[in-house]
Amino acid sequence: MLASLLSLAMVATWASPVFSSSLESFALKKVLADATPIFGNYVKETGSKAEWMKNYKDDTQLIHMNIPGTHDSATWNYSQATRTSLLGITDLNQVTVPVPETFRCQELSWIDMLNRGIRAFDLRYAFDPTNTTIIFYHSEALLSEIATLDDVLFGFYKWLDDHPSETLFLSLQYEGSTAKYASNDASIQLKLFNTLTSPVAQKYFVQKKNELGTLGEARGKITLMRRFDLDQLADSYTAAMPGLHFSPSLWTDNDPNIVLTYNEEKNLTAYIEDYYEPTPPAGSTATENIQWKYNATSSHIVKATIEHPDSLFWTWASSENTDNVPPVWPKIMAVGNGTLTPQGGVNQRLVPFLKEQKGKRIGIVMFDYFDVPSDLIDEFLSL
Ligand SMILES: *[C@@H]1O[C@H](CO)[C@@H](O)[C@H](O)[C@H]1NC(C)=O
Ligand SMILES: *[C@@H]1O[C@H](CO)[C@@H](O)[C@H](O)[C@H]1NC(C)=O
Ligand SMILES: *[C@@H]1O[C@H](CO)[C@@H](O)[C@H](O)[C@H]1NC(C)=O
Ligand SMILES: *[C@@H]1O[C@H](CO)[C@@H](O)[C@H](O)[C@H]1NC(C)=O
Ligand SMILES: *[C@@H]1O[C@H](CO)[C@@H](O)[C@H](O)[C@H]1NC(C)=O
Repeated sequence: MLASLLSLAMVATWASPVFSSSLESFALKKVLADATPIFGNYVKETGSKAEWMKNYKDDTQLIHMNIPGTHDSATWNYSQATRTSLLGITDLNQVTVPVPETFRCQELSWIDMLNRGIRAFDLRYAFDPTNTTIIFYHSEALLSEIATLDDVLFGFYKWLDDHPSETLFLSLQYEGSTAKYASNDASIQLKLFNTLTSPVAQKYFVQKKNELGTLGEARGKITLMRRFDLDQLADSYTAAMPGLHFSPSLWTDNDPNIVLTYNEEKNLTAYIEDYYEPTPPAGSTATENIQWKYNATSSHIVKATIEHPDSLFWTWASSENTDNVPPVWPKIMAVGNGTLTPQGGVNQRLVPFLKEQKGKRIGIVMFDYFDVPSDLIDEFLSL
């Protein structure tokens, strides 16, 4: 009796379902705690949305899959309170920082995103103000001074160990206009290179280069989407990077129809919609802005269903028009502004549209506020 009580206590104290009691496990726990402000609190979940890729065969080409993603994924906890807690650092940034609504594009953490089916993430990085670690920003908004790129990658690695049927896409982009003197110089490029080619990264990142393979080859791993150049380093560094290269110099600004060749040798082209700031006449309503963006998004998705079936389609459903009067925040574009937008935002309009795309390939789609309305991702995953 005593023995069995004791062993029960041991189980409860030492062998939580997520972590064991080894030193390695304590170290991982520490890293994941540091990752929390960006990754969220690690919880292990199974279930249909946490493991939806189990429904697809190993020989499925990634290019033929429909992958839900989030835009500016690291902004989910950005508020006035968060900004105030980082004030000492914000002071080092540019003098005027717009209101938090300008920057916030999500409301659930990465662990929630993962467990609810999101498989593509958009990370905007730069050096912290001391040029020591790589952290996350949205323009001049610093999102955490604790959670580094190294920390959050361990969150993804742990999640993939817990969900070996799944595969992830990670888009990394150097974020300019962060701290006052920040620049995309050789030192940050080298730090990034070292992180993405470390022994652990080599284990978890798909090592294919400028080419997508099958789901089977990518399960339990991450495909790197390189929205950065290593132009301050020798060419050998670029040559050693895995993943798909979307050079910022080829990614035209605010373009509803980007055609970007990421593999010259094999003529592999990506079709991208990144019309993030709709351009109706100045002073237009939220509804008009939403209509412009919905048009760009839905027509790009329609193209994905009929054109270039063996090419990558990557559609960004995210947008803002913060220069408009009144400003249209990312949240208003995605989910509307109450009674002023009876048809909701881009996300609500996409639900009936997605119902019409059943059985078709739509590619990767990046959302703001992906959890609203609650059936958006359900519709997406049941395509
Ligand atoms: C989210 O932000 C609030 C306010 O700054 C903070 O108290 C909370 O700890 C943050 N959450 C996480 C998971 O870091
Ligand atoms: C960080 O690096 C930039 C150059 O990229 C430099 O201007 C700045 O002074 C450095 N900041 C610190 C705190 O060393
Ligand atoms: C490359 O592919 C595109 C279609 O994706 C096609 O229009 C073009 O002709 C191809 N170019 C070459 C050199 O094969
Ligand atoms: C959006 O598309 C619809 C249907 O094709 C069209 O009636 C409408 O004028 C378009 N609106 C804008 C703002 O482009
Ligand atoms: C959104 O709604 C608020 C409150 O009703 C209003 O003050 C603001 O001007 C609206 N913004 C837009 C872009 O419609």
